[in-house]
Amino acid sequence: MSEVVKLQLIGLAVVGSGALILLLVRAQFVRVIGFVAIVLGLFTLTALSVPQMASLPPVEEKFDIATVKTPTDMATIGQKIFFSKGQCALCHTIGPSESARCPDLKGIGAKLSREFLFESLTQPQAYIYLDYRHEGQPKEYPARMPYINKNPIGLSKNEILSVIAFLQQMSGEPISVSVAELEVPGQAPAAPVKVAQSGPVAVAQAH
Ligand code: HEC
Repeated sequence: MSEVVKLQLIGLAVVGSGALILLLVRAQFVRVIGFVAIVLGLFTLTALSVPQMASLPPVEEKFDIATVKTPTDMATIGQKIFFSKGQCALCHTIGPSESARCPDLKGIGAKLSREFLFESLTQPQAYIYLDYRHEGQPKEYPARMPYINKNPIGLSKNEILSVIAFLQQMSGEPISVSVAELEVPGQAPAAPVKVAQSGPVAVAQAH
């Protein structure tokens, strides 16, 4: 029996006993108590008949490394983060917009190097990009780029790398972050070996 059903039964019992009192008892004071019981019981029943809605926080995107096989997978996750947990789309547009309070990020993956992108996200005050969209002196944007790796947004390194992959992909650039750079939770010592086996070495040899 669910909690609500139990409470409804109690409500019904209270209403019922109130009705019985009104039917059977003549004493004025007891009749008042019976009347109050009916009102309270009905009130409870009405409240319980309102559908219960749990307001849960939005489901967090789980970063499951096992499912990430290619840089494109990273970009797909990065895109989700861009529009959800990362809150980037609250401020930035991808493509020009009159109302934008912050820089348009269209083509940003081609304009900025991967290192610069990482710095823009984790040390936003190191280099402040100014608003050149109007005549005269460029001005600072009214909003501030938040530290993406700190609270309240607090993206992990893996999530930041994925966002960079997305920014590069949507700019038509080759994705320069590799899956081997992702931190595998609880497997820190194994990571250097993995890095050595994959991408960067192959690239170094190719040059
Ligand atoms: C509160 C608003 C806000 C949020 C949220 C935000 N940004 Fe920014 N961002 C800005 C502002 C303002 C600037 C320009 C000033 C500066 O460079 O610090 C900027 C600058 C940048 C730049 C550098 C642009 C350039 O041309 O040099 C990048 C890249 C960037 N943001 C990416 C992101 C990403 C990715 C996210 C989400 C993970 C994000 N931002 C979230 C406001 C925001």
